[in-house]
Amino acid sequence: MYTDKRVYSYFYPMMIGRGCVASLGEKVKEQGCERTIVLYDKPLKELGIVDRVLSSLKASNVQYVGWDGVQTDPSADSVNRAAEIARSEGVDGIVAIGGGSAIDTGKAVDVLIHNPGRAEDWFEVKDVKPGVPSFMVSTTSGTASEVTVLAVISDADGKKRLMFPNAAAPRMAVLDPELTLGLPPALTSSTGMDAFSHAAESFTCNLANPLTDRMALDAIRLVAQWLPTAARDGGNLDAREGMQMAQLIAGLSFNNASTHAGHAIAHALGKARHVPHGVGCAFAVGEVLEFFAPDVPKKVREIGLLMGADIPENAAPEEIGRLTRETINAFKKKIHVPTVAERGVTKEQLALLGDDFMLEGGKKYTLREMTASAYIALATTALDNEAADQ
Ligand SMILES: [Fe+2]
Repeated sequence: MYTDKRVYSYFYPMMIGRGCVASLGEKVKEQGCERTIVLYDKPLKELGIVDRVLSSLKASNVQYVGWDGVQTDPSADSVNRAAEIARSEGVDGIVAIGGGSAIDTGKAVDVLIHNPGRAEDWFEVKDVKPGVPSFMVSTTSGTASEVTVLAVISDADGKKRLMFPNAAAPRMAVLDPELTLGLPPALTSSTGMDAFSHAAESFTCNLANPLTDRMALDAIRLVAQWLPTAARDGGNLDAREGMQMAQLIAGLSFNNASTHAGHAIAHALGKARHVPHGVGCAFAVGEVLEFFAPDVPKKVREIGLLMGADIPENAAPEEIGRLTRETINAFKKKIHVPTVAERGVTKEQLALLGDDFMLEGGKKYTLREMTASAYIALATTALDNEAADQ
C-alpha cells in the first residue's frame, strides 16, 4: 500500500559526468558568485582533488578562500570556525568538496552566512534566512548528502544535531566519477552498502511511494552490478560511475521516503561505539529485511532477486526473508565490508543499546511498531550471522 502522508515537490540542479568538475567555475559564475569559500580536508588536498576544483574556479576568474579544516562528523566548533571566515571574507558562494562531512559543513556554513550567532543557535530550526549559492562536489559514493536537505552536526556532547539550510538559496550537486577513483577498497564497499541500505530501507519504509520505489529498485540494481567491481578494482571508471549513480538515486529515494531500522541501528552503533556509518548500515540490513519480509514479502523478494537470490515465486514470506538475508550477507562478504565485531562490538553492548535504537528514529518509519527488545534481538542475530559468515 502506498502512503498519502506526504506530498513532494522536488527539483535539484545537478551536474553529472566524467570530467564535469572542470565546468564548475562557469556554473559558479553563472550564479553571480565572485568570491567563494572552498571547504575540504587535508587528505583530499594531497590527492589533488581540491586543485582540480580550484583550477576550474581560477579559469572562470572566481576568487576563493580555501579552508582545509573539515572534520569527520563535523562539530559545531569546526562549523563556527569556517562560518567566521566566510562572514569576514564576505563570500557570496560556498564550494564544499568531499563526502557527507564536507558537504554537511557546507550546508551548515550556508545557514550561518545570513543568520547571526553560532551553529548551536540554529540546531533543529527550520525557519532560517536563505544563504548564498552553494556547490556540493561529491568525492564518495554513499551518503548522497549533496542531494539531501539537512546537515548533521555534532554538539559539544557529541550528540548529532540537525541544521536545515533554506531551500531558497540555489544549491548544485556536482557528481564527477573521476573524483571517486581514489576511494580505498574498505571505504568503497562500506559506503556502497550505505547506498544499498538507503535504497532497501526507503523501499520498505512506511513512506515509500511509487516514485521512490522506482528509484530504490534502480539503485539496488546498480549496486549489485557495480559495487563488487568498484571494491575490487578502484580504478575502473565504469564501476565508479555506476556506483555514483546508485548512491545518487538511492539518496533521492530515501530523501523523499525515509530510512528505518537499519539506519537506527547504524546511528546507535556510530554514537556508542564509533562504528563508521557505512559499516553500521551494512551490519544489519539483511536481518532488517528478513524481519519485515512478512509485511512486504513481494518487495523483499524483489530486492533479493536483484541481489542474485534464487527465490521461488510461491515462497513463504519467512523463506523470502531468509534467502534475501543470506544473499545480502554473502554479497557483503564477497566485497569485504568491514565487520562491527572488528570495531569491538559485543552482544553485551548491544543489550544495552535498546533505548538508543529507539531514540534514533527507528520506529517512526517502520512498517511495524518496533520495541527496544525487538531491536536488541535483531542486532544480536545480525552479530551472530556476522560471526558465522567469517
Ligand atoms: Fe546512510
